[in-house]
Order: sequence, then C-alpha cells, then structure tokens
Amino acid sequence: MKIMVKVGDFRTENVDAIGIGIFEGDESFIDDRPIELDTALDGAIKNTIELGDFKGELKQTAILYTHGKIQSPRVALVGLGKLDKLDIESVRQISAKSLTFQRDLGVKRSAAPIPLDTPSEMIQAAVVATKLGLYRFDPHKTVDLDKIKNLDELTFLVDNESEIPRIEKAIEIGEIIADGTILARDLTNQPANYLTPTILAQKAEEIAEKNGLKCEIFDRAKLEAENFGAMIGVAQGSHEEPQFIILEHDPDRDDADTIVLVGKGITFDSGGLSIKSGKGMMTMKRDMAGAAAVLGAMQVIGQLKPDLRVIALIAATENMPSGTAQRPGDVARSYGGKTIEVLNTDAEGRLVLADALGYAKNYQPKAVIDLATLTGAVVTALGRFTAGVMGTDQSLIDKLRSAGEKTHERVWQLPLWNDYDKALKSDIADVKNIGDGTAGSIAGGAFLKTFTDGYSSWAHIDISGTADYVEGSEYLPKSSSGYGVRLLVQLIRDWS
Ligand code: BES
Ligand code: ZN
Ligand code: ZN
Repeated sequence: MKIMVKVGDFRTENVDAIGIGIFEGDESFIDDRPIELDTALDGAIKNTIELGDFKGELKQTAILYTHGKIQSPRVALVGLGKLDKLDIESVRQISAKSLTFQRDLGVKRSAAPIPLDTPSEMIQAAVVATKLGLYRFDPHKTVDLDKIKNLDELTFLVDNESEIPRIEKAIEIGEIIADGTILARDLTNQPANYLTPTILAQKAEEIAEKNGLKCEIFDRAKLEAENFGAMIGVAQGSHEEPQFIILEHDPDRDDADTIVLVGKGITFDSGGLSIKSGKGMMTMKRDMAGAAAVLGAMQVIGQLKPDLRVIALIAATENMPSGTAQRPGDVARSYGGKTIEVLNTDAEGRLVLADALGYAKNYQPKAVIDLATLTGAVVTALGRFTAGVMGTDQSLIDKLRSAGEKTHERVWQLPLWNDYDKALKSDIADVKNIGDGTAGSIAGGAFLKTFTDGYSSWAHIDISGTADYVEGSEYLPKSSSGYGVRLLVQLIRDWS
C-alpha cells in the first residue's frame, strides 16, 4: 500500500472513498472539514446523525454515497468519540478501523483530508496503525485468493504546501516502524517447519545486508567452542542446527552508549522431555516472538540510524524430545561458567538466555534488555494487555514504562527482590532452572538475573501474554502482534 500526502480538495479528489472523522455529540461539527463536506453533500452527514444511524461514537462507522455531489462515490464516516477523550491510542484505533472498514467495502484508493497543524506524532501513529490493521498473514493459503481485498493507496489531503515535508517525514517514519512490526509478525506467524533456526539466521543476514547492520552467526560447532553450554543443552534434542545471531548497528561516533537487545528464539517449544500437552504445544511455533521483536527493531534501527550502538543477540534453537535430548536432572555449564541443574526441560527459554545474557557482558553495555515468551504464569498474572517487566535498574524500567505508554505496548513491573533467589538454589549446581512453583514469572526473572554479572542495567520483559492477539484492538489481527518492536524503537529513539 502506498501512503502519500498532497495539497488537494476532497470535493475533486478522484478516489474510491473520502474518509472523515466525526466527533461525538455537540462537537460533531467543531471542525471545518465535516461542515464543508456536509454542505457539499446537501446535509447528508447531519441527516445521518439526526436519524440516529451514526453518533460519532469511538470507532463507529457509516458509509454515505455521494451521487456525484463530489468526485468520490463514497464518504466513509468514522466516529472519533468525545473531543476531550481523543488521545494517540484512539487515533490508532480510529485509523485502523476506518481503513479496514473501507478495504472490506472494496475501496482501493482512499483519501483523508487532515486539519492544519495535525501533530506529526498523530500522523505517524495513524500510519503505523493503518498498516498494522490492514495486515494479514496468508502465504499458505491457496484457495479463495481472489476474494482477498486490498487497499492500494491512502492519500492525506492538506490545504497548504508548507505542511508537506513535515507530513512526508512522519509517513516515512511510520512506515518504517510498521514494516519492522510486520516483519516480527510474519516471522512469528510462520510455522516451525517453515522457520527453523537456520532460516531465522538467514533472515537475519538478509535484514543486516539490506539495512547496513553487521551480522555474525554461531553454529553448533562454534557454540560448543565458545562454551555456550546451556544453549547446547537445549539444542541437543533437535536435528535442527542451533544459531546464535549477532547483529550490530554502529553510529558515526565511537563514544556512544551501547544497548544490547536479547531475544528468545525457540522456533518450536515441545517442552523437550518434560513434554507439553497437545494443547499447550499448539502455539509454540510462536516461542521465538522475542527474537522476532528484536529483529524487527533492528530493521527499524538500521533504517533510522540512531546515535547509539545497538547490538542484538538472538539465541535460536528448537526444544525437542529425543534420544539425544537433555534429561531432567542434567547439569549444564553456561557461557560465563555458572552451572545449572535442569530440572524441567520446558523451562528452556531461561537456559538459552543465560548464555546470551552472559555473552552480552563482552560489549560493556550501558543497558541490556531481553524479550522472551518465558512463562505461562505472566499470562495468568497480567493477561494480554501488558507484558511483565523486571530488572536490576529502576531507571531503565522507568524508561521502558514511558516508551510503553507512548506506544501502547505497555509493561507492568514485577518485583525482583533477592528474597526470590532462594527458591532457585540447587543441591548440586549453582542454580536450578525452576523455582518452588510460586511466582512463576518472577522465578524466571530471578534465574536470569544470575547471569547478568558484569553490567548493572538489565531488564527482562516477559511477552508470553502480549505476543499474541489482543481482543478489541483494531490494529492487532488474530495472529501474532509483533509486540516489542515499537516499544524497543521508542526506547532507543528517546535514549539520552
Ligand atoms: N514457552 C513457554 C512459555 C509460554 C507458555 C509462552 C504459554 C507462551 C504461552 C516456556 O518455555 C515454558 O514452557 N515455561 C514453563 C516454565 C515452567 C516449566 C517453570 C511454563 O510457563 O510453564
Ligand atoms: Zn518451554
Ligand atoms: Zn519456551
């Protein structure tokens, strides 16, 4: 889909639909545009409101046919809700709703007149949400492809030429961020037989190549040579080669801060010998959503080129049961030398992350942030509207919270007091990979904390709940959400 801006008049614009937002109640005609459009349509909008068919309630839609009164044959109304309630998240919801509504009607080319001085961040948010709302994952469908409807063009119409460069910039940034999120969604939606660790690594190489990032990949032999014992333990049950993926964005100067982003990349989590139930396994192709979010964010970072050094570390492997699989009770030696008693092979995310977090130390990072579908317990605790965040540096967590509010990819802090460490004591190794059955998500965080020696600022984001579909949001389809890309990009853009 092409998104553009130009100076134009909604009366003469040759498109399939003009989209217009209408506030609820007394404020419906507070703006010039709805008044002008209503006049051009001989009062059709007012009439629709008077009939009670459309009230301007948030995300309400209605279609009007223009019968030649303006060039476009249709006007698509979308409710903006109450004027004093309009915020950036409602702009996202409204934009996605309006354009998916128009697409489903068969509209190919749509135009939206926008008021003078519409803030750039609103335009950016509208662009992101529109692209994300229109997203579909259908590479494996072979029937009814002709029934799939697509919107080809969206044009913002402005009155003043001087507005164009600013709006073009907002569109460009919005598209870059949306495309990073779509990349994460595509990777996460891809079934495990189409997205092995090797294929994920190839994708990472392509992303690096296209976006000016450095890329290095460790295969099984290299992981063994480098003593990534925890990750090797998880991978040993699978025929698929594990891949440790390193991407790097370097700014122009040498003294910039280094941020390390770490992603859990389990391309399929069967649980290993501590095998999951059939139902529990059904969504486990998505157990690499953390890796996907980090890759999506790196694509954006490669394009926006922030003045920061950003490193991505992705630990990619399958977790499978087999004659060579790791057994409950085995002891693994992690990258930094700490030993782990693996009492449950289904707590594998923390094992691969133990090596990755240990490896992060080599970059002398200012901050390390890991994203992982680590525990089912976080879904029980927090549901699907927020991820759980915990860590060793309150100011980093506060930065993440603020980035989460801005992007609506929210995080909620869980405590990580030392009191929780006791449950992870092992009789025969330095630590065991499960706690005492209470505070499951915090136990995961407390385990990971063990491997963050050597840097003082670390946050862990448990995205098991947010990586999937959230009911009620117009820009999250019934599949992977791509959660984390927008959050990480916001954090990096706001870093100072
Ligand atoms: N990948 C799962 C966590 C998960 C569960 C993500 C449901 C998304 C939806 C993780 O590897 C896992 O199996 N965790 C265990 C940990 C337990 C064995 C301590 C869990 O949550 O049950
Ligand atoms: Zn697991
Ligand atoms: Zn897992």
